[in-house]
Amino acid sequence: MFPFASLIALCLAATLVAAGPCDIYASGGTPCVAAHSTTRALFSAFSGSLYQVKRGSDGATTNIAPLSAGGVANAAAQDSFCSGTTCLITTIFDQSGRGNHLTAAPPGGAASGPNAGGVDDTAAADGAPVTLNGQKAYGVFVSPGTGYRNDATNGIAVGDAAEGMYAVLDGTHFNGGCCFDYGNGETSARDTGNGHMEAIYFGNSGVWGTGSGSGPWIMADLENGLFSGLNVKNNPADPTITNRFITAVVKGQPNNWSIRGGNAASGSLSTFYSGARPNASGYNPMHKEGAIILGIGGDNSISAQGTFYEGVMTSGFPSEATENSVQANIVAARYATTSMTSGPAISVGSHVSLRATTACCTTRFIAHTGSAVNTQVVSSSSASALKLQASWNVVAGLGNSACVSFESRDTPGSFLRHANFVLLVNANDNSKQFKEDATFCPKVGLNGQGNSIRAWGYPTRSFRHFNNSLFVASNGGPNTFDTTSTYNDDVSFVVSTAFA
Ligand SMILES: *[C@@H]1O[C@H](CO)[C@@H](O)[C@H](O)[C@H]1NC(C)=O
Ligand SMILES: *[C@@H]1O[C@H](CO)[C@@H](O)[C@H](O)[C@H]1NC(C)=O
Ligand SMILES: *[C@@H]1O[C@H](CO)[C@@H](O)[C@H](O)[C@H]1NC(C)=O
Repeated sequence: MFPFASLIALCLAATLVAAGPCDIYASGGTPCVAAHSTTRALFSAFSGSLYQVKRGSDGATTNIAPLSAGGVANAAAQDSFCSGTTCLITTIFDQSGRGNHLTAAPPGGAASGPNAGGVDDTAAADGAPVTLNGQKAYGVFVSPGTGYRNDATNGIAVGDAAEGMYAVLDGTHFNGGCCFDYGNGETSARDTGNGHMEAIYFGNSGVWGTGSGSGPWIMADLENGLFSGLNVKNNPADPTITNRFITAVVKGQPNNWSIRGGNAASGSLSTFYSGARPNASGYNPMHKEGAIILGIGGDNSISAQGTFYEGVMTSGFPSEATENSVQANIVAARYATTSMTSGPAISVGSHVSLRATTACCTTRFIAHTGSAVNTQVVSSSSASALKLQASWNVVAGLGNSACVSFESRDTPGSFLRHANFVLLVNANDNSKQFKEDATFCPKVGLNGQGNSIRAWGYPTRSFRHFNNSLFVASNGGPNTFDTTSTYNDDVSFVVSTAFA
């Protein structure tokens, strides 16, 4: 009997080890009613599609599944499908079986997205590379203007019904705009009043609630307020979080809710708030509507940024023990960073010039005239002033040292940066915005030559020469410089040692 019992124990242990977050929530009596991730299966038995990507070259789509049931996403399938073109994440599938898939959010009461019909942007498929237990996967990099939504859900809490949720996010990618959320929003994409939302918020908006320090904080977006605790005020127990990977938890039941959080790569969750609902009218009882939002506010406020890797919503109020087991599962998934760049090296400390590769323009280099960035014909016999205008110091990315920034050789302290998607040379004002707008992640050139140089904060957008001026352009989009015509050539630049 003993060996048989051992075998059972071994099988049980294997089953427990393999349980996904949603298996754990189900065991706790609070099953997932939505489960979203581009990085991995959230049920041990899930082997269906995690997400869909659409490529720019021909508009074709493909679905990305885990490598095996319960496993990490097949990033190689995406890389192969998207090779030599751009790809967007068009759908994040719901793994719960309830069909609560997320697609580009429609326009809302606060804002319209930048695309036809006011629809929000979707994320670059390769904007947020990571590894899980050493295997490559991609998160969802949300730039301002990007948002996903489902207004016709199945099984998501409405009214004052209990629910829980967690999300794994990039703790270093945030801003103070409204609102990088994941969770329960209005089905009309309009602000229908206090208590009509219950979503995780992450960022450093100080307009409503705040925690300790200067942020970013995990808070709850309950509509007309980001709450760090009891009322729309400071909760010193809600800490500034700086971990690269974070787990954020929000849950609510009648006149009772919690915020929890921790490092998604190690350790346990802490409780930042647990107690009564805000006492302003509308929050007790709640008026949840049951839409699901990602990257935006309930009214489609689209000013925020952040990165989402995985998250779920449950039916019922999960116990702390259940959430602690989910946290252990997330830690065991071993989220880690990986290279943000590819293609020929553009090394920090080098001085470079960047030559266009479009047939029209192969003698033209990226240069600047004052703050305007353009292409000019430059050669070894050009005047030294022009040579300097077309020469750049490569420094560690001001906004993210995994990427680079380009300092003007003739105007030290001034850098290539984008503003309204136009490339400029401006003096570094040391603001978070400037540093991020001056950070670029080179990847292999889309036309096979040199590098395409992506905007860190807008990975759908790369340096593009258009009409001899420089922009950060997407492959199709609302601006004239986003045209798909000759896109791959216009965004590919050969990097050489600087003229001067
Ligand atoms: C909130 O709910 C939790 C768990 O159900 C409980 O432990 C706690 O006492 C409640 N707090 C309040 C203020 O009702
Ligand atoms: C709400 O609670 C705050 C303290 O957290 C208190 O100052 C305020 O008077 C309360 N408001 C109402 C309407 O009860
Ligand atoms: C091209 O640039 C010139 C000025 O540099 C401008 O007058 C013209 O409108 C631009 N054309 C397009 C199509 O953007």
